[in-house]
Amino acid sequence: MPKTETATLRPGSLSRASLLPSLSGLLREWLPRQRWFAGKGRPVTELALLSVAELHPNCLHILVRAGYPEPPATGAPGSAPAHDCYQLLLGIGESLSPRLSPAVLGRASEGPLAGLLVYDALQDRRSASLLLERLRRPGTVGALRFERDGRVTIPAGLAPRLLEAEQSNSSLVYGDAYILKVFRRVRPGVNPDLEVPWALARQGCTRVPVPVAWFRTSSPWGATLGVLQPFLHGAADGWTQALTALSSGQEFTAEAYELGQATAEVHLALAAAFPVESQDAAETRRLAAGMVGRLRDAIHAVPELLPYASGLRSAFTELAALDAPRPAQRIHGDLHLGQVLRAERQWRVIDFEGEPARPLPERRRPQSPVRDVAGMLRSFDYAAHARRPWRPEWALRCREAYCAGYAAEAGWDPWAVPELLRAYETDRAVYEVLYEARHRPDWLPVPMAAIARLAERPGLRRLTP
Ligand SMILES: Nc1ncnc2c1ncn2[C@@H]1O[C@H](COP(=O)(O)OP(=O)(O)O)[C@@H](O)[C@H]1O
Ligand SMILES: [Mg+2]
Repeated sequence: MPKTETATLRPGSLSRASLLPSLSGLLREWLPRQRWFAGKGRPVTELALLSVAELHPNCLHILVRAGYPEPPATGAPGSAPAHDCYQLLLGIGESLSPRLSPAVLGRASEGPLAGLLVYDALQDRRSASLLLERLRRPGTVGALRFERDGRVTIPAGLAPRLLEAEQSNSSLVYGDAYILKVFRRVRPGVNPDLEVPWALARQGCTRVPVPVAWFRTSSPWGATLGVLQPFLHGAADGWTQALTALSSGQEFTAEAYELGQATAEVHLALAAAFPVESQDAAETRRLAAGMVGRLRDAIHAVPELLPYASGLRSAFTELAALDAPRPAQRIHGDLHLGQVLRAERQWRVIDFEGEPARPLPERRRPQSPVRDVAGMLRSFDYAAHARRPWRPEWALRCREAYCAGYAAEAGWDPWAVPELLRAYETDRAVYEVLYEARHRPDWLPVPMAAIARLAERPGLRRLTP
């Protein structure tokens, strides 16, 4: 098997300006094909290199800004921004081992890399090892800052492998001991996936793997680029476990109950670590108005929602009519069965990034913890639909058990204000309809079934499918 032949680039010879002609054509073609590319379905019309750092003369760390046309005026909710910044690790070689052929962007035809192959170096074990070496021994490389928890010693030589999960980022597992999440879409400031687990660990919360090392860029905007945390060996995510239970005709209520307890524990620790607010009736009306707006936009884009419009709107008008102040705090922000792992009969919560499509200040804002509960309830529903025959009563029992576990730990029942839970669940289901209609039409019946149920304004205590 031919070995990867390295190119003969002079260290420090590559600048942003000189590299752009080499990379521009390749990136315009390759970026839109990546799962984590946010401008789905839109061409890259503008490219700028924001920073270039040489981890090695043949391994470049790059932040690239991609611009795309504004989405057509479908009235889609949260209309996408015209620019996003992505993090890439690019390898440069004259020839490559066949193992790396899926990683190839192509051969550069212009500029300093002309004639050389460019590839996604996160798929290359040597480059992945370079990253770990940098994290083991903190320091700087160009604008990159590598930092770590000084109390932890990370062993050398841990074998890397790229995780093959369906991810919105890219994760490398090192020797089954650590996992490095490399954020693909980069935003200014500290990423909540570093900030929140640290804060929870300081509260003594054991429900999260605690970051041991991380790297960031000092320019352009001090963004977190990657976080290394212990790898939970032998853990399976909640989605996989729920589907396994369904496939073998088993219940999931004991697990769901414990998951409710784990969620409540995390919420209590978040409330201790970050500011807690009391949101008044005006704030509740603003929340409801946002939901109404998203529903209107979704109906515009997915006409199948139209017959349910008034029923769904009633969920939001009932929310808007609530007078009592509501507690709001830092929450997970994107909680579902894929964001929890179970190892040694303990649930752990991961991925505190929130919804990557929303701006960071919005994701940091205090919100009702009921929003996370609603996310998990929707996830049970999805799991129940993912296996034939559809067993709605399975999901219902999971919902009950999850809320009971939550109430036992938190000291309050997520159903205490049923209008709030119904509104959050409806808002989530509306989002799902829009997402599935655009990206996975086969899945559209799942949120549509929930839409039909939620629009019926069922007895408020429990929402039967
Ligand atoms: N600490 C960990 N131990 C074991 N597996 C993990 C750990 N963190 C993440 N994973 C695995 O990586 C997957 C993606 O991680 P996640 O943080 O959710 O990334 P993304 O932001 O891309 O969704 C998870 O579903 C899980 O399978
Ligand atoms: Mg995730």
